[in-house]
Amino acid sequence: MDETAASLQSPQGRSEGTRPMTVVASPDELRSLAELFADDANEGGHEFEEWDAEQRKTLSEGQYAAWLRDIKYGFWFSGRPKQFAPPGDWSIWVVRAGRAWGKSKTGAEWVHGRAMAHPGRWIALIGKTSADVRDVCIEGPSGLLKCGFPEDRPLFEPSKRRVTWPNGSWATVYVSEDPDMIRGFSGDTAWIDEFCKFSSALEVFQNLQFGMRELSNDKPRILITTTPRPMSILEKIEAQPTTVTVVGSSYENVSNLAPEFFDQLKASYEGTELGRQEIYADILSDSRGRVYSSFSSDIFPAGNIDPTVKDLGGDILVGIDFNVLPMSAVIAQRVVDECHVLDAIELKSSNTESLAAEIRKRYPGRNIIACPDPAGNSRHSSQRAGQTDFAILRAAGFEVRAPKAHCAIVDRVNNTQALLLQGGRRRLRLHPNAAPLIASYKGLCYDEDTGAPDKRSGLEHLCDAADYLTWQEFNLYLTVGTWGSSSWST
Ligand SMILES: Nc1ncnc2c1ncn2[C@@H]1O[C@H](COP(=O)(O)OP(=O)(O)OP(=O)(O)O)[C@@H](O)[C@H]1O
Ligand SMILES: [Mg+2]
Repeated sequence: MDETAASLQSPQGRSEGTRPMTVVASPDELRSLAELFADDANEGGHEFEEWDAEQRKTLSEGQYAAWLRDIKYGFWFSGRPKQFAPPGDWSIWVVRAGRAWGKSKTGAEWVHGRAMAHPGRWIALIGKTSADVRDVCIEGPSGLLKCGFPEDRPLFEPSKRRVTWPNGSWATVYVSEDPDMIRGFSGDTAWIDEFCKFSSALEVFQNLQFGMRELSNDKPRILITTTPRPMSILEKIEAQPTTVTVVGSSYENVSNLAPEFFDQLKASYEGTELGRQEIYADILSDSRGRVYSSFSSDIFPAGNIDPTVKDLGGDILVGIDFNVLPMSAVIAQRVVDECHVLDAIELKSSNTESLAAEIRKRYPGRNIIACPDPAGNSRHSSQRAGQTDFAILRAAGFEVRAPKAHCAIVDRVNNTQALLLQGGRRRLRLHPNAAPLIASYKGLCYDEDTGAPDKRSGLEHLCDAADYLTWQEFNLYLTVGTWGSSSWST
């Protein structure tokens, strides 16, 4: 079976609701029929009596009527092979494609097919804002209200954030601005549109995964459609063995768009770095825009990764960012004037108490010095009313060291940057065990709009945790003599 045939016949692409009514053998035959009747399809059909002899041999009158209807409404015919779900056992299908490639169309048709294939199915529709989901995924030219045959079209009830199909399947609208809402979802199908525009992309994805659990006619499946940005959560998702990624350039949809659009696209982006991202959907991985641009994932001394870093038995230093998801901690030791990172911990759905217990479990009997977010001294912990996060850490037996107030983000980032590389020295070394922090240093970029580190990536928590530690204990803005007094391991 060629690629086209495989795609057109995949169960997700051609589920019950969108299956062609005409009895046909192969996509190739369909295409030659289309050529034969091209004028009929464009003009809405001719009387069967008007057909010439060759046409009459091809189809009966009933088949002809059904075929015209299929051509008019059926995405199975107009969709490009890449717009159909790939065959196989994948759990996540990523469509990473350029602007106007047909990402939203792909998502809407897939959702419609899944809704029609299994009555009573609950689906999550996730976008950046509720206006995005409404205007693009539901009501737009590519939206759900334009998919399938007229009698199969769903009803949209904005006040209930709900789309309901005639067979009882329904979809609920969720937005990245409120990732906690997704905790209420329990289904087997989710479509995330423009993932890379999300604030809290990581939280959205984590919360969604817990809700993908219902039994149905198929395994739980998530579709992510997006034009990329350098976001390590996307790279992590694409790297999972159960993910299938389809990459496409804007030009693949040229036949469905006004030529003026492409003139504009070319004038704005062709031949530029941003064009690689916006047209060809490349993930830009150079260091421009990276917050920790001094970080290198080469092995020490060329870079900051050092597999020989080990626990030398001195004080355990812990940088902590709390009341965030995931709870994030960086474990390190001082070796003379260097900071050696042993590990990075991320705990989903956790709290300060559990994080402290986890660290204590890993380092029993050791002197633990916590260098947390200074806000934890005044703010009551979100988990335990009336108690601060500092108090919880102290109760766990940790010594707590932190400045009285926050320093400017730019200062603590610059301090870490200097530890990563200054004067040819790399004083911040990371063991490969600290993989989540390594990914964060590689992936955290500045937000083009705000100029601050991009919170949408979910990568800032571990970087913040490490910054609190380095600012407190390895502060190059202060003189060496006043550095933190954690014991030295030599
Ligand atoms: N296979 C197709 N056949 C016909 N029209 C298509 C097809 N795929 C996409 N289109 C049309 O092309 C236009 C752009 O598609 P769509 O909005 O899905 O692109 P997109 O990649 O989501 O764009 P954006 O980058 O703006 O989000 C829409 O009018 C859509 O209906
Ligand atoms: Mg779109």
